[in-house]
Amino acid sequence: MKILVTGGAGFIGGNFVHYMLKKYPNYEIFCLDKLTYAGNLSTLESVIDNPKFTFCKGDIADSKYIDKLFSENKFDIVVNFAAESHVDRSIENPQIFLHTNVIGTGVLMDACRKYGNIRYHQVSTDEVYGDLPLDRPDLFFTEETPIHTSSPYSSSKAGADLLVLAYYRTFGLPVTISRCSNNYGPYHFPEKLIPLMISRALANESLPVYGNGLNVRDWLYVEDHCRAIDLIIHKGKIGEVYNVGGHNEKSNIDIVKTILKLLGKNEDLITYVADRKGHDMRYAIDPTKIHNDLGWLPETKFEDGIKKTIDWYLNNQKWWKDIISGEYKDYYSKMYGNK
Ligand code: NAD
Ligand code: TYD
Repeated sequence: MKILVTGGAGFIGGNFVHYMLKKYPNYEIFCLDKLTYAGNLSTLESVIDNPKFTFCKGDIADSKYIDKLFSENKFDIVVNFAAESHVDRSIENPQIFLHTNVIGTGVLMDACRKYGNIRYHQVSTDEVYGDLPLDRPDLFFTEETPIHTSSPYSSSKAGADLLVLAYYRTFGLPVTISRCSNNYGPYHFPEKLIPLMISRALANESLPVYGNGLNVRDWLYVEDHCRAIDLIIHKGKIGEVYNVGGHNEKSNIDIVKTILKLLGKNEDLITYVADRKGHDMRYAIDPTKIHNDLGWLPETKFEDGIKKTIDWYLNNQKWWKDIISGEYKDYYSKMYGNK
């Protein structure tokens, strides 16, 4: 089995590469990544010399490059993680999100069609469903919830999802889609809530909480997401969408306070800053379908996962300090300088 993992130098794709090489030592894992600001080869350092692993630098939206790659390699499955993934950046500069997330998805699927109707899996997000109100805890996103996006990021992901379903219906491309809630765990780029708060708290820097901090996200340990994708690509029904989430809703302020407590830091570090434009209030997944159809359940409880994650950031300071000392510093002052 030869699997192309795009975006494998990023957070979830990187975790997926490690997960698959460990679980299936006979599979060949081929990683294609453009190495944008979010891609980090050091995430793949421990597998770079593995004979079953190959890394290639390239853009999923570059049709010439992708055509050559597919003509030279016979992939059995393509799992597309490659994306621009940060909502705040999509508010600053939507165009690159359209390029990578929509055009890139189309280019990959065209190559899948051309080179033998290759099995294609799209890694999507619960953000395509928009948000839920805080005063209706009985509501959850199911696969039937209408697409209703808020940010350029979620709109570009929704556009890609629609394209994937169209390629199934129009061309019969064997596709699946997973829509997962917020992930956390090792190798998470320190612009996202949890790693940002851990790294800043360790440096005794202020922790910027948007608005009143009451927005809710449904957090899932990244390995549980990898296991869900593994199940879908092996046993999922073609043409189907699967929601992935673990009923683990937490407000942002609770997350930040938990991190401070586990690090033994003072809540004085919390600073309320201007809210994100169009900020989604609550995400909450109903994972009944993937549970009933594929037997998936999350294995890591939040209390354990957050401790493991903090330990990882404590034990791997070089990984994130190298990021922060680079381009990320400029990015940080640009995004938060006037807040
Ligand atoms: P990430 O930003 O950490 O990683 C994205 C990776 O894609 C990077 O390595 C980057 O270099 C690469 N990339 C970007 N543009 C590319 C291009 N044009 N060609 C090739 N490679 C390119 O993102 P992540 O958090 O790991 O998310 C991975 C996928 O999962 C995304 O599709 C995202 O929408 C989805 N997702 C993320 C979450 C989450 O909580 N992080 C939740 C649900 C779904
Ligand atoms: P984020 O990690 O960017 O993921 P997403 O927007 O895709 O859910 O943000 C998670 C939540 O944390 C979101 O409600 C915005 C909030 N947030 C802050 O309050 N402060 C921050 O500095 C960041 C990055 C996010």
